[in-house]
Amino acid sequence: MAAVGARHDDTPPGDRAVLAAAGIEKTYRRGVWPARRWVRVLQGVDLALAPGEVVGLVGENGSGKSTLMKVLVGALSADAGTVTRRGRLGYCPQEPVVYERLTCDEHFELFGHAYGLTDQAERRARRELYEALGFERYAATRTDRLSGGTLSKLNLGLALLADPEVLLLDEPYAGFDFDTYLRFWELVGERRQAGRSVLIISHFVTDEERFDRIIELRDGRAVPR
Ligand SMILES: Nc1ncnc2c1ncn2[C@@H]1O[C@H](COP(=O)(O)OP(=O)(O)OP(=O)(O)O)[C@@H](O)[C@H]1O
Ligand SMILES: [Mg+2]
Repeated sequence: MAAVGARHDDTPPGDRAVLAAAGIEKTYRRGVWPARRWVRVLQGVDLALAPGEVVGLVGENGSGKSTLMKVLVGALSADAGTVTRRGRLGYCPQEPVVYERLTCDEHFELFGHAYGLTDQAERRARRELYEALGFERYAATRTDRLSGGTLSKLNLGLALLADPEVLLLDEPYAGFDFDTYLRFWELVGERRQAGRSVLIISHFVTDEERFDRIIELRDGRAVPR
């Protein structure tokens, strides 16, 4: 389904896309000769994300969801294909990448600098994220002392800090309690309203109605579901 507000737009979807991938191929090489093996993971993936769209990316374990997301973000180079990005991008990897000796506050400061936010803007966004995800009490806690769920909140918070046009989330709520899970979907709803796009890797097919559209990775290709 097209995004609300974009329905009367006559521009072809490819031209409106904030993120578009075409013909993405990726093969991993494993081991060394003579036991070398190749794993063909992506075999020509095409996908496009329109403004204000919330899209789910599903597929069985090992189907290449995380690999595709890394290619979309630019963290991994593909063997073939093109990726076009428009605007700022936020990425929440499947395994949080944090500095264990730094506190949550220090992470926000560091990422705020990296995004080029003013101190004031960073502090405001940080406060809102602590409140929205409910982890302010861990502001001064080092990340190696956080629980898995709180670490996931920080991971998500850092991806959201600069209010990106496109948000890419790799199983963001795996460690969330139910209350946080609901708050997460409130945040996603607010982004949709603001015309921001979100791509979410998920195994929760029971929540299909929360997405505008679901894409499945099957045999190395993206197919609508
Ligand atoms: N760095 C790597 N080197 C070699 N093979 C890899 C590497 N990363 C992933 N793979 C392989 O590529 C395939 C796809 O992995 P990927 O992590 O993208 O799957 P996924 O769909 O995200 O799975 P999951 O649902 O378990 O998170 C798997 O067979 C995996 O073993
Ligand atoms: Mg994965």
